[in-house]
Amino acid sequence: ATLLVLHGPNLNLLGLREPEVYGHADLASIDADLKARAEAAGHTLASFQSNAEHALVDRIQAARGDGTDFILINPAAFTHTSVAIRDALAAVAIPFIEIHLSNPHRREPFRHTSYVSDLAVGVVCGFGAFGYGLALDAALHQLDAAG
Ligand code: DQA
Repeated sequence: ATLLVLHGPNLNLLGLREPEVYGHADLASIDADLKARAEAAGHTLASFQSNAEHALVDRIQAARGDGTDFILINPAAFTHTSVAIRDALAAVAIPFIEIHLSNPHRREPFRHTSYVSDLAVGVVCGFGAFGYGLALDAALHQLDAAG
């Protein structure tokens, strides 16, 4: 299968950015680990990060035509604001898992709302970089189950 990992704004700073909240792993190492694990299981995985809402919307739209079977997405701050990203995910109708490094529910009230959770297959949050691996395992399990 073909998987797409999407990272929203400020996740390019992972490792440097509030490490007490988001941990020490950087984005390149998370992406490399996911790619290696997916390929070891016989799958293809691509990653994309942007600080721009429109770039994420464009990449989600492109996924409809490029054979993407499953999306793993950490929309970062856009989780709490973006009707456009929600609408793009709904439009392409590709199953996805929502990921957060932190547990937004134990943080500020404005992080308690997600514009995408109710469309997601599931949500992984609060486990730092480890959560991406959990989400990948869950995605591969879903794809197996779908045959
Ligand atoms: C985040 C949580 C969001 O509230 C925040 O805006 C982020 C990262 C996380 O991974 O914990 O940028 O999505």
